[in-house]
Amino acid sequence: QPASIRVVISADATGPTIDRNIFGQFAENLGTGIYGGVWVGEGSPIPNVRGLRTDVVTALKALRVPSVRWPGGCFADEYHWRDGVGPRQKRAVTVNGSWGNALEKNDFGTDEFFDFVQQIGSDAYISVNMGSGSVKEAADWMAYMTADPGTTAGAERATNGHREPYRVKFLGIGNESWSCGGAYRSGYYVDEMKRYARFVRNLNLQQQGTDNPAGGSIAGSSPMQRIAVGPGSPGTDYTEAVMRAWKEHDWSWSIEGLSMHNYTWVSWPPSYASTGFGEREYAALIKDTLKMEDMIRIHSAVMDKYDPDKKVPLVIDEWGVWLAKLPGSRDGFLHQQNSIRDAIIASINLNMFTRHADRVRMTAIAQMVNVLQAMILTDGPKMVLTPTYHLFKMYVPFQNATRLPITFDAGTYRSGDISVPRIDVIAARSADGKLWIALTNVDANKPAEINAQIQGIRARTASGTVLTADRVDTVNTFEKPNSVVPRPITARVTEGRLSLTLPPKSVTVLSIAQ
Ligand code: AHR
Repeated sequence: QPASIRVVISADATGPTIDRNIFGQFAENLGTGIYGGVWVGEGSPIPNVRGLRTDVVTALKALRVPSVRWPGGCFADEYHWRDGVGPRQKRAVTVNGSWGNALEKNDFGTDEFFDFVQQIGSDAYISVNMGSGSVKEAADWMAYMTADPGTTAGAERATNGHREPYRVKFLGIGNESWSCGGAYRSGYYVDEMKRYARFVRNLNLQQQGTDNPAGGSIAGSSPMQRIAVGPGSPGTDYTEAVMRAWKEHDWSWSIEGLSMHNYTWVSWPPSYASTGFGEREYAALIKDTLKMEDMIRIHSAVMDKYDPDKKVPLVIDEWGVWLAKLPGSRDGFLHQQNSIRDAIIASINLNMFTRHADRVRMTAIAQMVNVLQAMILTDGPKMVLTPTYHLFKMYVPFQNATRLPITFDAGTYRSGDISVPRIDVIAARSADGKLWIALTNVDANKPAEINAQIQGIRARTASGTVLTADRVDTVNTFEKPNSVVPRPITARVTEGRLSLTLPPKSVTVLSIAQ
């Protein structure tokens, strides 16, 4: 009988807010992420509303996705928004040079994107083209999206069926500008970033005065958060350059977020399989994902130097497991399956984000549908929800909840020469006053006995759901969609102490009633 793991939660204490934007998502015009995955067109036999597939929209609504980043990614820096507005039969047909040279018919453009975010109840995070575009092109796009219908740009939008200005809550100024976004030196990027931050204006007057975490009252204030390109490795060149510039910003421009990208792949190019793998590959990816902690610490330390009050959030707007493409899938489509391993990795990352809630206030998992660590896989009319989808749904109560102080002995999970923490736990109080605990047992083989002391309240019952599977590589398929789905679980509660057994390779989310 293994010794039980002691967890102590200070339920009557307070802590930072877990910004709901850390549960954001990324949807790029890449492979079947948009075409087939989200967009099927109005004439499709697949049930849809204005071309957007109903099954996918319904599933995503349940996740309360706070924001969707679009159109890229690398694609953003070769995207010309004019190709994707107006009557569809007249739109430009182009080639997606970033991703498999696929034909880009531009059926899914700006108006379709906003219809999508509105249908799922989310907010828009637009990445403008800084690589092959210009400040004017980006400013014109913002005008198309946000200007009053009395202006020429707004009138064009109204002619295309959308009189009211759209709400652009987040603006990405470039993407990976140190690589696919133009391979810019950091100093060059910063000079360009200032021009975009100054001139790419959100003209939606209704949006003026909305929350702006970094916004001084006058200095560069903007109704949207402008997010600058930051690091994609432990190197701090971009972080230093952008944050130094931010510290010196004047009334004419500012930024309200620094992007960071960090994938779990062990080594580049990604070679780990998404199906049919064993415990060695399971443990290797768990170990690799923990590098996220180092990345956050390294870049937060630089940010703290220039911004000790933590006004500028670290926006991890690309993260997730990047594996070898599924055999038979097209090159450049980044199509992979999604197993219980991915769900566990998602829980480890989300837990890290909550522990850095004062600096990490927004993220976007890559990507939403059919690409990399997806929530949903589709094939024609078929759709399946992945383990990562279920994990995100289980974590919905943590959106905007107050993180609570917690201590626990993580222990160690060993597999061959790999050692990683065995247990991970977070606790939070949601806005309605309920207490929530998420517990992850990384161990592929051994259950974990948990003995939790909940200080400050008299816990009476604890119940929730557990996500687990028989094997580390278990996936949901179109034929067997329910291999990894949340099942009910109840903890024993005696005299305010909660005890339960976590199955091997599992994530459990409990709500505690007092
Ligand atoms: O998510 C896939 C790609 O990964 C993105 O387009 C790019 O920004 C990153 O390198």
